[in-house]
Amino acid sequence: MKLSTSYLLPGMRLARPVYGQNGELLLGRDAVLTLRNIVSLQRCRVLSVDIKGPFGFDDEERNVIEDEMRLGVMNVVHEWTLKNENKLEHIAGTVEVIIDEILSGKEVAGGLTQICSADIYTYAHSVDVCILSLSVGVKLGYARPKLLRLGIGSLLHDLGKTKIPAEILNKPGELTPDEFNEMKKHPEYGHQIFQKTRGFSSQSASIILCHHERYDGTGYPRGLKGDKISEMSVICAVSDVYNAITTDRVYRDALPPHEAYEMVMASGNLLFNFKVVKAFLKCVTPYPVGSMVRLSNNVTGCVCRLNQGIPYRPVVKVLDSEEEIDLQNERSIVITGLIHPEEISELVAKEDVPADCIVPHEIMLPGVVS
Ligand SMILES: [Fe+2]
Repeated sequence: MKLSTSYLLPGMRLARPVYGQNGELLLGRDAVLTLRNIVSLQRCRVLSVDIKGPFGFDDEERNVIEDEMRLGVMNVVHEWTLKNENKLEHIAGTVEVIIDEILSGKEVAGGLTQICSADIYTYAHSVDVCILSLSVGVKLGYARPKLLRLGIGSLLHDLGKTKIPAEILNKPGELTPDEFNEMKKHPEYGHQIFQKTRGFSSQSASIILCHHERYDGTGYPRGLKGDKISEMSVICAVSDVYNAITTDRVYRDALPPHEAYEMVMASGNLLFNFKVVKAFLKCVTPYPVGSMVRLSNNVTGCVCRLNQGIPYRPVVKVLDSEEEIDLQNERSIVITGLIHPEEISELVAKEDVPADCIVPHEIMLPGVVS
């Protein structure tokens, strides 16, 4: 389950690896946290991590897209951007790999932005947006060549941010009107760069140019309305917004998935074309596996399985018990809310500290005082 690094306690065990500002591994899966590496994680600007919860169930069996694969894609995009390559072979190859993963039925759950240092947000975010966009494209029945164009545009949607001064891009607070106006130029900058790339397609280029346009005409750079915005651009736009609001940033906390889900649901034919919104909501879930929830019968538990097509009624494993409540069958019980991170922290800390905590995994980073 996801937990902000401010709530970590020694003895907790990582459910997923954590990566630093160059995508280097800081701590591996199953690492047991010590006070020193909690402090180091915070200094490395890792905002949240996935920890193992106080439950018997293990979700490692799930068929999810591997973090290592996501990280590989991120490194390809990072290098491609730095080298200013003017051909698309590497990018197309890496999008093909993601398409294969999604078509083979892998879950798109998780995301890189949660487990990487805030410094590489733009690149990690691009990978997550690409994966989300492609899963929406698959739901809409896109053929492979169309998926490839959607994936390339989504992976490079923020390419123009390389032209935005770092002090604006990484400003840890609200932008001034002038700074915001500069930031709003990134779709056009990206479009210009992309059009000089050998092998580019106009549909991918349009995603880069139009991913901040909105159905009601309130977007930028051109204030396009309704069906004047291509469907592929809308797919990328919804994925972009969803990933951004569900990710912790230095200046604000992430929205929990169920709130983000409701926000997207409410945005149909207001900010985004309703057809795309409907397809998108089939790709994400309000209560992902691992969410710690409180039920209307005053029971606390953890979402251990989802019920296809009934997003608000997953199976919940009851805390301190072997019992599972399948909300698909127990119609009188509903999820009333998420458990606060502080409470999760206390629950996990109550567990026995694993034996290998005696040999702690330490983060070895130059410049980090431990
Ligand atoms: Fe953008």
